[in-house]
Amino acid sequence: MAKYVLENCFAVLAFLLAMKTKARTTTMSGEVIRCKAAVAREAGKPLVIEEVEVAPPQKMEVRLKILFTSLCHTDVYFWEAKGQNPLFPRILGHEAGGIVESVGEGVTELKPGDKVLPVFTGECGECRHCKSEDSNMCDLLRINTDRGVMINDGKTRFSKDGQPIYHFLGTSTFSEYTVVHSGCVAKINPDAPLDKVCVLSCGISTGMGATLNVAKPKKGMSVAIFGLGAVGLAAAEGARIAGASRIIGIDLNASRANEAKKFGVTEFVNPKDHDKPIQEVIAAMTDGGVDRSVECTGNVKAMISAFECVHDGWGVAVLVGVPNKDDEFKTLPINFLNERTLKGTFFGNYKPRTDIPGVVEKYMKKELEVEKFITHHVGFSEINKAFDYMLKGESLRCIIQMDA
Ligand SMILES: NC(=O)c1ccc[n+]([C@@H]2O[C@H](COP(=O)([O-])OP(=O)(O)OC[C@H]3O[C@@H](n4cnc5c(N)ncnc54)[C@H](O)[C@@H]3O)[C@@H](O)[C@H]2O)c1
Ligand SMILES: [Zn+2]
Ligand SMILES: [Zn+2]
Repeated sequence: MAKYVLENCFAVLAFLLAMKTKARTTTMSGEVIRCKAAVAREAGKPLVIEEVEVAPPQKMEVRLKILFTSLCHTDVYFWEAKGQNPLFPRILGHEAGGIVESVGEGVTELKPGDKVLPVFTGECGECRHCKSEDSNMCDLLRINTDRGVMINDGKTRFSKDGQPIYHFLGTSTFSEYTVVHSGCVAKINPDAPLDKVCVLSCGISTGMGATLNVAKPKKGMSVAIFGLGAVGLAAAEGARIAGASRIIGIDLNASRANEAKKFGVTEFVNPKDHDKPIQEVIAAMTDGGVDRSVECTGNVKAMISAFECVHDGWGVAVLVGVPNKDDEFKTLPINFLNERTLKGTFFGNYKPRTDIPGVVEKYMKKELEVEKFITHHVGFSEINKAFDYMLKGESLRCIIQMDA
């Protein structure tokens, strides 16, 4: 008798466990999904893996199952909230790859099962920016770092015990499931390996596009890259593809010198090794200045140096790094009068839905290597390690596997 009761108890327990696992993993179009998310509850404190509720997608939204995500320095700024507005609790993350789980009303271009990259800036396809060849600053879906809600109803799709958890950059990929506006989703080749191409959803496309689409160096030109993290090294890769004759990499982290060689950087300069302002050092190395520069540090002093180190008459500087919200860029107007150009870009001027599938194809055809940007891997439960690697300057990109 005792054995019979015990066996039945085990059977009931096994059933309950199976139901719990099922609730976590099956697709449930139109229903709330409970899943794991890494929640940033306080500035600078380790993310907490929690079970959260993810509401179904509303009009023009899609719910994604994220399979791989990676860490970009922009996540770190908003987690630290030192130079940015604090907004907590929040689910960070914007560089990722996943699968469409369900779609909301009005979504016709995506369906469950599609392989996708969510992107922090969107493309409605209708506005003047989306219709312009020169802009990716969509009126409806352009990057908004302070908004923590969905635009459809001004509410969050994430909650825990009835309390809202804010979104980040419209993507919030540090969650097994997330809800994203369909205009912020690039549908990609179903054969593309998400553990690799996820890095194309922010950093690598941004850096490469900043050089190829915005700085546009001509063959044989010299290019300076400030900041040799993944974004800067992707900018260097862009310079190599464009046929730059010299690619001068500038970084305060001496260990970047070796890494940079793999990305076509021909000379490395560490500002710590010089007494003079770095723009003067670069000007002395290049007979008056480089033809193009791309800044990928987020440090406003480096931004000013990046501008002032380009040659007068034709030099073009491009800002990519995200500055502190109150930073001011100061330079003498004469630097502009002397025919230097200053530009800036989000996402390397790529339109996410129109252009990113093609960038993924370049990887598929082996015209673009992303593996060399991937220096670390961690399971989702160890996501805080990815922050440590980046803060110590050890990693370029750390891939976070959601089911590990
Ligand atoms: N505009 C966009 O669309 C966009 C997209 C992605 C990332 N970003 C920004 O690009 C920047 C780089 O991102 P990442 O993920 O490659 O970061 P990262 O931390 O991996 O790399 C930044 C590098 O800059 C170096 N650096 C910092 N201050 C410097 C200085 N004063 N002079 C020289 N080097 C300096 C660091 O040592 C580091 O190697 C960040 O500011 C990030 O927010 C912008
Ligand atoms: Zn990013
Ligand atoms: Zn638009």
